[in-house]
Formats: sequence, C-alpha cells, structure tokens
Amino acid sequence: MNQLKHIAIIMDGNGRWANLRNKKRIFGHKNGAETVRNITIHSSDIGLSYLTLYAFSTENWKRPKIEINFLTKLLDEYLKKELETYLKHNVKFNIIGDISKFNHSLQKRITQTIEKTAHCTGLTQTLAINYGSKDELTRAVNKILKKEHKNEITQETIENYLDTKNIPPVDMLIRTGGEKRLSNFLLWQSAYSELFFTNTLWPDFTNIEFDKMIKKFKVIHRKFGAV
Ligand code: IPE
Ligand code: IPE
Ligand code: MG
Repeated sequence: MNQLKHIAIIMDGNGRWANLRNKKRIFGHKNGAETVRNITIHSSDIGLSYLTLYAFSTENWKRPKIEINFLTKLLDEYLKKELETYLKHNVKFNIIGDISKFNHSLQKRITQTIEKTAHCTGLTQTLAINYGSKDELTRAVNKILKKEHKNEITQETIENYLDTKNIPPVDMLIRTGGEKRLSNFLLWQSAYSELFFTNTLWPDFTNIEFDKMIKKFKVIHRKFGAV
C-alpha cells in the first residue's frame, strides 16, 4: 500500500455548477467554499498531513473585476469564520502564491490566520492564491540569484526557494470539473504525482468520492522510474 502524505486539488467547476442552476457564478464559489471546509475536515479526520488547494491562479486576474472582488471577499470571510474550525481540528493554515497583489486587509487576515494556527500539529492546509507554477519558479530563481553566490545550483536549492519549501512532493493530484489539464499548478511538485480527474463539479465533490480516489491511489504501482 502506498504511503499518502500530500494531496493537491484543482478545485474546478464552481461557475458551471451555478450556471446549471441558473444562478450567477459567485453562487458556485460560495458553495465551493463549503466543499473546501468538508474536504479539509475529512482530510484531517483520516490523518492526512498535507492538503493543497488551488483557489486562485495567476491567470484568474483575467476574470471580470466583480468576480475577483467576490472571490477575495469570500476568502477573507472564510478565514474569519473558519479560524475556529482550524483550531478545533488542529489544522495549520498555510499559503503559496504571491499575496502582495491582494488588498492590505486580506493580507493581514492571511498572516494572522497563519500565526494563530502555527501551533497546530495535524493537517497542513495550504491555499494556493495568486499562485502559478511559472511565477513561483521565476520568483525562486530571482531569489537564488540574489542570495546564492554559486556557479551551479542543485535541485535541492531550487526546492528550498519554492513557496512549497518544507512541504513534501504531491502524491495525488485531483482535478474536479472535467478538464484534463494542470493550469499552471504545482508543475515541479507534481513531477511524480498520480493524477485523478473527475467530471464532478467542485461544489458536488464529496468525502465519499474523495475516499474512493484514495483507495485507488493506495494500490497503484508507483515506480518512480525503477522497475
Ligand atoms: C474554480 O471554478 C474556482 C476558481 C478558479 C476560482 P471556476 O470558477 O473555474 O468554474 P468553471 O470552471 O468556470 O465552471
Ligand atoms: C484552475 O481553474 C485554477 C483554479 C482552480 C484556482 P481555471 O478554471 O482557472 O482553469 P482553466 O482556465 O480552465 O485552465
Ligand atoms: Mg474553471
């Protein structure tokens, strides 16, 4: 049976979920936040160590301003409301991505939530916000240029400058919503992850489907290039 430490999820399909109900896209995001809560608690219950959720990509700034504003407000409200849940379930909150692009009050909420959950020793829930792999790698290379005065660097050095420093590689990568693409998510960290795609739209994604995927993952023959 495979060891499972880190699951990453591309939470896709909120807009379509709302459209199917003749509602605005933001209604889908609101319901998607409920799934985030359920999957996080469930991950904690089953003893997972790392859950990384793609919530806002570097490309999502192309969306209408009204949707972006709603998403940032939703995140702020989520963190405010769910602090209790993080603490109750011993979940450490973490982020990857460049948060300097968000408004000051959201940045403050994010850093406060990180600080207030820093002592938690159970699941680490990482939200990827204003995250893109290419941006992350570019920022890492620029930091390396400034700080490492070497002619050659190792893979380990690169990993130490990524936003995911101290987080193990992705074991399982799940994408809901039916598309089979990575959309600039954790390209380095998913080099050897097992990929799971489902047509289920994110607000409909259940703990039961999640458990079924985990069961499948456990018996995959992971070879990492060996025989
Ligand atoms: C994913 O759902 C959530 C975010 C990208 C913020 P979408 O908003 O992409 O929903 P669809 O893919 O349009 O249905
Ligand atoms: C990926 O979903 C980003 C997040 C889930 C945050 P998108 O809906 O933005 O991806 P594309 O545009 O379909 O590739
Ligand atoms: Mg989408």
